[in-house]
Amino acid sequence: MLQVITLPNCEPCRIHSDIKLVLPENITIDGSQWHYLVYIPWDNKYLDWVPEEYKDFFKFVLPNLKVRTTDVHTAKSISFLKDFQKNFANEKINWRVVALSLILHDCGWSQLTQQEIASSLGVKGLKLSPEAMMPKQTHAIKGQELAKRLLSEYQFDPPITIAEQDLILKSVLYHDKPQEVAGANLPLEVQILVDLDHIWSFTHENFWQDIVRKGVKPEEYLQNLQADLDSYFVTDFGKKLAQELLSKRATEI
Ligand SMILES: [Fe+2]
Ligand SMILES: [Fe+2]
Repeated sequence: MLQVITLPNCEPCRIHSDIKLVLPENITIDGSQWHYLVYIPWDNKYLDWVPEEYKDFFKFVLPNLKVRTTDVHTAKSISFLKDFQKNFANEKINWRVVALSLILHDCGWSQLTQQEIASSLGVKGLKLSPEAMMPKQTHAIKGQELAKRLLSEYQFDPPITIAEQDLILKSVLYHDKPQEVAGANLPLEVQILVDLDHIWSFTHENFWQDIVRKGVKPEEYLQNLQADLDSYFVTDFGKKLAQELLSKRATEI
């Protein structure tokens, strides 16, 4: 089932009818940029995507994930954790670090202005424009600061170690830099976090949301995602999973 929406350039466009999009109540930016602020409203049904052992921490962080569909994104991305665990079963990986990093990685968006959030989405694919670069960097830096505070306020059982905290905070800071993570050969925990974050762009929810947010037609966006896929992921498994999801998006179009 499809619904027809009007893109920012006034052209009609069909998107999936199960994608519910709303605008924030108090918008302070120019009307020509409102489409950047649409988001999928949170529903507690999305908690089902979060593994049981991380649900309490997710709920603790949730109030800091209320802009830019960060809440639905984080829940959706963590639903792929088990796929990565299966694929990397023979590697020594601290999965608690990966999960906590993922829950925290985008909390920094809550510290940014509507204008910064709008600017961060002014791209037609995955490669960042100069205007999108600054807010993207800021959300990682502010996210690292906020993540440190949230980690210190939550009672973990067993408590997280200094080494775990350091790795989580490094992951939050580097989550949007796949080239640097791959080039510096950072720990697998950081590499997997990058890919779990980036898989969101290829999911049903974000693909159709971004048609509206980025104002690009589905066929064109599909091509842009395909072109950018390789450089957007660190691990071969991340690339394979993204390719499978992209094939599903192609059939939806
Ligand atoms: Fe992010
Ligand atoms: Fe993210």
